[in-house]
Amino acid sequence: MNIGIIGIGSFLPDNRVTNIDLEKQMDTSDEWIRTRTGIEARHLAEEDVTVADMATKAAQRALQSAGVSIDEIDAIICATATAPAFPATACLVQANLGAKRAVAFDVSAACSGFIFAMDTAKSLMQSKGYNRALVIGAEKMGSLIDWDDRSTAVLFGDGAGAVVLGEDPIASIDSILLGSDGTGGKHLYESEDGKIVMNGREVFKFAVRKMPEIVLESLKIAGKSLDDLDVLVPHQANRRIIDAAMERLDLEEDKVVVTIQDHANTSAASIPLALAEAVRSGRVQEGQTIVIAGFGAGLTWGASCLTWNNATITEEINT
Ligand code: COA
Repeated sequence: MNIGIIGIGSFLPDNRVTNIDLEKQMDTSDEWIRTRTGIEARHLAEEDVTVADMATKAAQRALQSAGVSIDEIDAIICATATAPAFPATACLVQANLGAKRAVAFDVSAACSGFIFAMDTAKSLMQSKGYNRALVIGAEKMGSLIDWDDRSTAVLFGDGAGAVVLGEDPIASIDSILLGSDGTGGKHLYESEDGKIVMNGREVFKFAVRKMPEIVLESLKIAGKSLDDLDVLVPHQANRRIIDAAMERLDLEEDKVVVTIQDHANTSAASIPLALAEAVRSGRVQEGQTIVIAGFGAGLTWGASCLTWNNATITEEINT
């Protein structure tokens, strides 16, 4: 089976909060945030907007982009770290969209979650003979932010991205690698009162080492090399992490998709949001080799090498 992406969609909440807005709320500055992270603004959902609301909107757009009806969906898998543990956000999306015959569940692998969910969906399609799956990354990071902790509060944003997987894809999945190291769990976790706690320097060191490693490995598993790479879509956690990866891989800036300035770190939504942006802006072209790669709490990491088969895909987005 040649399984891959047949449609993509994304959603960002309307409420755009700039660094200048945050300056008025806490002891920080636009200059500090931009130079340390590359972030200029983030979208933060209003209080009454849930992770499932954002996931549903992104999923609808992905279905529209794929030209697939909800009745054709066999599985819905949502990667999220910020939704209530139950019912699964994927089940809420199922109910919202009326996906009667789909199996629905969530996966939890923080910022790497979308790639874990994509691999799970692909495996289910192969083992159970499913034809179409909806894979979503959706987060309301704002709900986990401790607004008294400026070192983490400025880093995150909300949003959702989704793809439909099916046969005869627009983007074939040539490899997926996943990994975890639970001994690093202490560096980035949710406190007992539900807030993000992070050892920024440790996470930074891990990310700078891991990102180039998994890009190379995902290419190798796909039978390709760095010379074949046309576009890298990295997890958007920090511009300096992306720059360090570019330097280690000797990649030109025009080969790397960067959305952190507008999205900040949206965890599991970050990669599908960035991929959607790359599609929308025409960065992704027929015949190209694309790598998506992420890392996050757990610690976890994942990367996937894709071949873009044709550029006819349309991407639905609200921004
Ligand atoms: N505004 C202004 N000053 C801030 C600040 C903010 N929002 N947050 C922290 N500071 C201050 C600190 O208090 C510290 O001050 P001090 O020197 O007087 O003690 C100073 O800035 C430097 O802090 P430091 O933690 O050393 O900064 P850094 O260069 O390591 O950058 C991060 C901090 C968080 C941006 C960086 O470590 C990082 O991005 N790490 C990875 C995070 C990540 O990717 N997480 C998600 C993984 S999925």
